[in-house]
Amino acid sequence: MPLQFNQYSVNPNGKLTAVLSTVRKKAGAFKLNNIFVSAAQKNEKILPVHCVAQSDLDAMPSEAKIWADLNGFDGAVGNVLLVPAENGQSISMVLLGVGDATDPFVTGALAKKLPNTPFTFASLAGLDLRLAAIGFGLGSYRFDVYKKSSQRVPQLVLGDTLDRDEILRHVESSWLARDLINTPAEDMGPDEIDAASRKLAKSYKASIKIIKGDALLSSNLPMIHAVGRAATIAPRLIDFTWGDKKAPKLTLVGKGVTFDTGGLDIKPASSMRNMKKDMGGAANILALARIIMDAKLNVRLRVLIPAVENAIAGNAFRPGDILRSRKGLTVEIGHTDAEGRLVLGDALTLASEEKPDLIIDMATLTGAARVALGPELPPYYTNDEVLATAVNEAAVSERDPLWRMPLWQNYNQALASTVADLNNVTTDGFAGSITAGLFLQRFVDPAVSWAHFDIFGWNPSAKPHSPVGGEAQGIRAIFASLQKRYA
Ligand code: BES
Ligand code: MN
Ligand code: ZN
Repeated sequence: MPLQFNQYSVNPNGKLTAVLSTVRKKAGAFKLNNIFVSAAQKNEKILPVHCVAQSDLDAMPSEAKIWADLNGFDGAVGNVLLVPAENGQSISMVLLGVGDATDPFVTGALAKKLPNTPFTFASLAGLDLRLAAIGFGLGSYRFDVYKKSSQRVPQLVLGDTLDRDEILRHVESSWLARDLINTPAEDMGPDEIDAASRKLAKSYKASIKIIKGDALLSSNLPMIHAVGRAATIAPRLIDFTWGDKKAPKLTLVGKGVTFDTGGLDIKPASSMRNMKKDMGGAANILALARIIMDAKLNVRLRVLIPAVENAIAGNAFRPGDILRSRKGLTVEIGHTDAEGRLVLGDALTLASEEKPDLIIDMATLTGAARVALGPELPPYYTNDEVLATAVNEAAVSERDPLWRMPLWQNYNQALASTVADLNNVTTDGFAGSITAGLFLQRFVDPAVSWAHFDIFGWNPSAKPHSPVGGEAQGIRAIFASLQKRYA
């Protein structure tokens, strides 16, 4: 019996046999599809949930006040209080503390704390209903593939005001990104990224091409080959296209390093510990592509994913090696742990060749990004001012934080090499996320609009809407900005 889980089914030896179905297939399992319902079943009572801000306890229904006082409910973020009916035989309503009522995703707390019944938001303390619904969906996520969790399945009754398909599109896509990231490298190597991409492409009738192993050399993708060649599973470039050929061309590129040992410049144990997440860019790009295709955005979409493992073996690329990139630029390897920019460099060159309207890349590219802005706020870089304005606005309206940082051209000097056109690292160590972005920019056609997102892809601490582990970052905001661009 293959082990079935979220969106994949895995053989006992860890190899995926089927991927990316949109629901969990385990017998009796919790299905994402089931947590949003349009209406309650006949005779089913719909539980009213009241959001209560800490500064506005008076706004709670008067019938609940005494019970709230008795239980010390003060509206703190994520506190859930079930209020019994007078006969004590059932629940009459639920209070959800929303703190200062600034975070609509606090509704994620309901996923763990409500009983298995349909519910609806009776009052929202000013929170946005759509985001509150998405927050509940995000909070319902569990990664219970390798460890069973007891799962409550409250169902949000969406009614007529919300677009169920739109909500599901976002929640499912974030779940997809999380599943891909959370799955250990043993079960999520280049083969499985490949299978996941094929499955996604197939379900939206996209056409897919994979360039694998030595074919990377004959196809002139030498840096992707160099980074991935020491791994047992062949490196590859995944390339799929979807949509109307005549529509504006949008190309998405995702860093798919399925495990980053650092290469011969091996990482210390503590830094290597979480490197199964180094395909977080690819996971987020697949999730974003899914949103775009599901929403039928008017673009000709292309997705490029270099999927490689940065492993160590006798044939690994070495410090001091000089790679000749697809672009023709020679790159001296100052450090084998700066591998993401190498695989992305060739992919961005390839992306540029058809001069698309826009290239977007996402990558867990630097530790420096996290030093600068922490795990929750991914920096991004772009040469397109119009896009930047749209992304900044969407980051706020979608509550999907992103922060623009500069492609400070003077720092290009730090990437100089005495023996090659450029080095893959700087020697001074300043502005690591910026210099990584500048390295990428050398491989992008300057006439093409481009944005680069240096994401963390991981929640280091649990929040109401997100457990510790893999995370989708920026994809709702990016999608909203694209909707505006391609309206
Ligand atoms: N995948 C890492 C970056 C990373 C580390 C992202 C930790 C998120 C959390 C990347 O390949 C890497 O190792 N970058 C080096 C670059 C350095 C050698 C210039 C880094 O950030 O230390
Ligand atoms: Mn690395
Ligand atoms: Zn890496």
